[in-house]
Amino acid sequence: MIHISYDRRKYQEDMINNIETFDNVVEIGCHIGVSTKIISRLNQDGTVYAFDNSPESSEAMKNLGIEYNNIIFTQADVRDENVLYDLMNRCENIDVLCVDLGGGYHPDTVFKVFFIWSSVLKPRVTLIRNRGLIDFINSSVSTEEIKSDEGFLESSANEIKPNNLNELKYWSDKL
Ligand SMILES: C[S@@+](CC[C@H](N)C(=O)[O-])C[C@H]1O[C@@H](n2cnc3c(N)ncnc32)[C@H](O)[C@@H]1O
Repeated sequence: MIHISYDRRKYQEDMINNIETFDNVVEIGCHIGVSTKIISRLNQDGTVYAFDNSPESSEAMKNLGIEYNNIIFTQADVRDENVLYDLMNRCENIDVLCVDLGGGYHPDTVFKVFFIWSSVLKPRVTLIRNRGLIDFINSSVSTEEIKSDEGFLESSANEIKPNNLNELKYWSDKL
């Protein structure tokens, strides 16, 4: 299932309603770990792989990792394919993917990060926080029944192969 919100409280409610004790969770855009703490308490028998490229995140997440022993933080730009390759090498199964690059952040980038990471990791559930994507969903109508029950797009996820992720390099660096 894919859940999408804009309000931070709803994003956190989605975490509470969907994350289970043994889940391994990837959190993209953890910032200083406010939601990471919630995830870490929910998946006490799993691991939270948290990512953010902000310099502010580093110290805060290091301190959080001392208090919460199931959090592994990586300071990195999630548009870099090597970040995803590296994660694939060090974890076996991801159950939940959380994506919050900023609620008002460019929906095109958020969608692309969601699409690539979820297609490769194939989570059971994805939680996204982004206003533009909600606007797109709520403003769209389709008469065709193309739909996924998993946390990735079942109609097109298998078209993404790790060796064609280098298209990530061409994303704008102005974001
Ligand atoms: C609104 S904050 C996330 C807040 C956090 N999810 C929470 O609930 O407290 C968005 C974060 O996304 C991070 N971010 C934006 N673009 C990114 C990118 N390309 N790679 C990694 N992190 C990124 C920003 O540095 C920022 O810390």
